[in-house]
Amino acid sequence: MKLISRALSLLTVIPLMLGCQSQPPVDLSQDTDTVKVSQEDAKKKALETFELFGGRLKGELQDALKDGGPVNAVTVCKERAPALARQVGEEAQIAVGRSSARLRNPDNAPEGPVADYLAKYGEGPAKEAPVAVEEWNDQWMVVAPIPTGPLCLTCHGEPETMSAELKQALKTHYPEDEAVGFKAGDLRGVFWAEIPKEQLGDLKEAPLKDGASRNIKTH
Ligand code: HEC
Repeated sequence: MKLISRALSLLTVIPLMLGCQSQPPVDLSQDTDTVKVSQEDAKKKALETFELFGGRLKGELQDALKDGGPVNAVTVCKERAPALARQVGEEAQIAVGRSSARLRNPDNAPEGPVADYLAKYGEGPAKEAPVAVEEWNDQWMVVAPIPTGPLCLTCHGEPETMSAELKQALKTHYPEDEAVGFKAGDLRGVFWAEIPKEQLGDLKEAPLKDGASRNIKTH
């Protein structure tokens, strides 16, 4: 009997583990413990992905600056930043990107909780900006601050400190550029990650509280 009921419970769990698209979403919103585990998992996964994305981008940026100076690095950044976001996102099976209250590339405009976060912390010092995890469209949206460091001022500092060539390159590629005039320590922008809830291992493994199974819709 025990075996049968275990087999039955496996049968209901397996489709969820496979994250089958045709299954309706699992609603565990009643179960606060599970939600907490899932939320912390989302944060961990996002922070690991940001580290990878930020690390690779900074590495390529530094190489480009060394090899061809800031004007060359602008074109590298323009092509490599979106490409790396896609690549790292595909590897982690989540959507990732960068945004800011003062944008260089309008394609990086914030949505939903990212816009709310930037309205609150976007113009302040980076050290006052937290890592935030919000629920959004059945996903976790994780937002983490990106501080302005000395290296960043080359292309995001006061325009007077930039060469005429660099100013021209920025103007050519980004006619609506607002991402100048930052100082070291300012919040330059954010990383964001959108993580579908059903993707998180711990959400599936987390113990269900009594009654929580009622919320799992199968058919
Ligand atoms: C060589 C010039 C250059 C340097 C140095 C540089 N950036 Fe940028 N930054 C750019 C360009 C170009 C873009 C637009 C990229 C794109 O098209 O997505 C950009 C975009 C961004 C964005 C995305 C939001 C937006 O405004 O579109 C963030 C965040 C950002 N940079 C942070 C930084 C930080 C932090 C540093 C320092 C570690 C830094 N940048 C150094 C040129 C630079």
